[in-house]
Amino acid sequence: MTATNQQQINDWNGPVGARWLTYNDWLDERTAAYGQAAFAAAAPQAGEAVLDIGCGAGATSFELARAVGSGGRVVGVDVSEPLVGRARERAQALSLPVEFRLADASRPLFAPHSFDLLYSRFGVMFFDDPVAAFAELRRALKPGGRLAFACWKAPAENDWYVLPLNAIRGIVEQDAVDTDAPGPFAFSDPQRVVRVLGEAGFEGVELQPFEAPFYYGRGDSREAMTEDALSQVFRVGPIARLLAAQTDEVRDKATVAIREALSGIATGQGIAVSGATWVVTARAP
Ligand SMILES: C[S@@+](CC[C@H](N)C(=O)[O-])C[C@H]1O[C@@H](n2cnc3c(N)ncnc32)[C@H](O)[C@@H]1O
Repeated sequence: MTATNQQQINDWNGPVGARWLTYNDWLDERTAAYGQAAFAAAAPQAGEAVLDIGCGAGATSFELARAVGSGGRVVGVDVSEPLVGRARERAQALSLPVEFRLADASRPLFAPHSFDLLYSRFGVMFFDDPVAAFAELRRALKPGGRLAFACWKAPAENDWYVLPLNAIRGIVEQDAVDTDAPGPFAFSDPQRVVRVLGEAGFEGVELQPFEAPFYYGRGDSREAMTEDALSQVFRVGPIARLLAAQTDEVRDKATVAIREALSGIATGQGIAVSGATWVVTARAP
């Protein structure tokens, strides 16, 4: 048995974290709309204390810092050393007083009642024991304090994830996505979200759907868009990991199949696929 969250801590300090670091600007651009939907629901106010959970390289922490102003406080917490390192560099470059903590957000890190708001863009789906993690996070909220985060809806509604997988069915063996396990889809089932947050002591749990196109490929021609999209498919989602373990022959076949699938949906605006999320809100009693 491994220590709590150890697999995710290894991943985010290993190949997954390295990919997020390399493509950080690209990922910030692709996920901005979803994060903004959660930001609007969070409604951070001047002077508030906010915790950004699983803050990665800090893009949303900086937006929060601008909203709470000099009288407020923003703390970003993340387990990934490379991403927290990048966040600290960016904070310095932007002269924004965000405090970044390299730590597991499910641990007792903060004094009770430290924050007015807990916020996250896709950073809360990776806990081995989500009830215990959210109970700990809730203790850090002031009475009546708010929780607002963005998480992905079911894989079938997210073509950024399943379109390349569907394209290589019959070429590469795939396990079904386990939506109860830590990972991007751990909060895709609304009943699970309501149960987890309820058992963790939150009240007034609500889920609002939010969808926005996820741009995979841009370019002046169908060929250029397709090649752009193909390289991007290897930056997020399961494809890089899945194909890394295959022979060159299988990888080549899979690449041809994904290229065909992407080319088939290119339009004048580029190659856009579906991205569907929940904006989840709740409050501490
Ligand atoms: C999908 S990324 C999102 C990063 C960032 N919120 C963004 O939108 O750019 C998920 C983040 O959660 C972090 N994470 C995973 N498990 C965590 C934990 N137990 N405590 C704190 N951060 C965690 C990862 O290191 C990663 O940076």
